[in-house]
Amino acid sequence: MSGSDYDEIAAMYHALWANSYMPAALPALERLFFCRIEPKARVLDVCCGSGHVTTDLVKRGFQVTGVDSSAALVAIAQRDLPQVEFFVQDVRHLELQGPFAGALSTFDSLNHMLTLEDLHAVFSGVHGTLGNGGLFVFDMNLEEAYSLDLHQWTVNIRHNAVGLSRGLYDPVTHTAHTELIWFTQSGSSECWQRRQSIVEERCYEKQDIVQALQFAGFRSIEVHSAIDLSVDKEFGHGRYFFSARR
Ligand SMILES: C[S@@+](CC[C@H](N)C(=O)[O-])C[C@H]1O[C@@H](n2cnc3c(N)ncnc32)[C@H](O)[C@@H]1O
Repeated sequence: MSGSDYDEIAAMYHALWANSYMPAALPALERLFFCRIEPKARVLDVCCGSGHVTTDLVKRGFQVTGVDSSAALVAIAQRDLPQVEFFVQDVRHLELQGPFAGALSTFDSLNHMLTLEDLHAVFSGVHGTLGNGGLFVFDMNLEEAYSLDLHQWTVNIRHNAVGLSRGLYDPVTHTAHTELIWFTQSGSSECWQRRQSIVEERCYEKQDIVQALQFAGFRSIEVHSAIDLSVDKEFGHGRYFFSARR
């Protein structure tokens, strides 16, 4: 599934999933990003989705630009944050007017890059948008995050939406598929609509990610396990935070 295929699951992602990230990841982002960026700086939210992290960046006073390939997710973000500039773009071919003081990519968005070449393209594009010394922070899942997968369904319930998800991991191709089934009720109707979708991700070796950052021209590269940054175990298992400077 490519980035723009998130269009199919935009409403569900926004309602059921996206807001779990920020509370869990906060200790890591405080330490690696928020503390290291000047107040009111220009910041790029790379793969911003429906804008949950963007909202936090705006509340902290940064001048934020968001970019994502899903027009449906960006429409939700733009509806909630009319003052923010959003772009619908594939981050493998970034065309944005820099320079930004920082770029942040959250919630394993970069695991959606299904080849190392794609990851290289994103790193090189982000590098090009940053000013000298600009900070790039992102999190990615390594293989251990997917190996916990027991093929169990997780159920998520809200008053007008029910989502079921389960992960499948192929250790040969290093690809993970998250299967999603969800039911939504529109307005006062008694009818529930069922939809189904699959999100594809790929994991990489830590050293491949670091080498790709170096190849793009980044320096001062740091790699931290989310657990070491006090992210809770359930969310942080196998998740790593990367920090680098242009
Ligand atoms: C798990 S969501 C995370 C969204 C957001 N960062 C958050 O924390 O809520 C992954 C996001 O990556 C975006 N994405 C995946 N591939 C992309 C690509 N090639 N270009 C731009 N966005 C992409 C999807 O559209 C989706 O919004």
